[in-house]
Amino acid sequence: MVVKRLAAPAPGDPAELTDPHSFAWWRRDADVQAAGLLDSTRGLRGPGPSAVDEDADGITIFQPWVEDAANNGLVIARCLGTFATEPVEHLHLARNQLRDRMRRVAHNGGWPTLARTTVADVADRLWQRRGDLLDQLDTLPQVLQHGDPTPANMLGRSGDDVVAIDWGTLGTGPVGADLGYFSLSAREALAPLVDAHLLGLARGTATREQVETGARVTAVFTAFNCAEWALARAAAGEGALAAKFRHPAVAPYLRSLQRLFPEIEKLL
Ligand SMILES: Nc1ncnc2c1ncn2[C@@H]1O[C@H](COP(=O)(O)OP(=O)(O)O)[C@@H](O)[C@H]1O
Ligand SMILES: [Mg+2]
Repeated sequence: MVVKRLAAPAPGDPAELTDPHSFAWWRRDADVQAAGLLDSTRGLRGPGPSAVDEDADGITIFQPWVEDAANNGLVIARCLGTFATEPVEHLHLARNQLRDRMRRVAHNGGWPTLARTTVADVADRLWQRRGDLLDQLDTLPQVLQHGDPTPANMLGRSGDDVVAIDWGTLGTGPVGADLGYFSLSAREALAPLVDAHLLGLARGTATREQVETGARVTAVFTAFNCAEWALARAAAGEGALAAKFRHPAVAPYLRSLQRLFPEIEKLL
């Protein structure tokens, strides 16, 4: 059994923690599990029957232990596709996740640390185009998404399905968004991940191009946001910025940016 504790928002915490449609809504993981919404979904399902216990300071979730199944990226990509059209109804699903994340980044001044690196020009052009690209995502078919499909959260396996944990960002978003987010930490390249995703996605949900667009825009903006965040933290210490590129807390994020260059070119 795993015990997970969610702390209730306190005065001074970001307002998005108390917005029921924000990806950051603090209690969604508990509410979704208590409602048993994910007990029999296809593609992804939850860890199983969970109990939640609420007190004045927060919520404690008691959930079954999920064994690490070492799922490969293609299985996860297919399962994210199958999950996309599952009929999950819940009052407080997250929406506009990428737009809200970009708004938070804009509030913090954009990508100022990347502006001091060799990707400065590319970062600047992408930043200018963010409004258009986010609008483009809104025109894609909107589907169900996990919202935080990192390999660590796509943990277990049950038959053909992935048993996923960490459901705090469950919501809707453009087709391909979960896939693009996942691709950043996958070993596989984007093209085979898209193939696998299309195998899982219900027929008629979206075209390959729509999936590619959703995945590409999500992956690129997420990778820039993460690289900025990691580099800004490292930059706070002493020494030249360029010397920080190989720091173990920074290098993986820069590598994931580099891998994305072909996709970034398509956006520019
Ligand atoms: N049901 C579970 N079974 C096994 N491991 C779990 C389970 N829930 C959480 N964990 C472990 O704890 C880590 C953090 O839990 P998670 O729910 O993903 O919270 P966070 O929001 O901090 O990522 C996971 O990456 C995983 O290693
Ligand atoms: Mg997690």
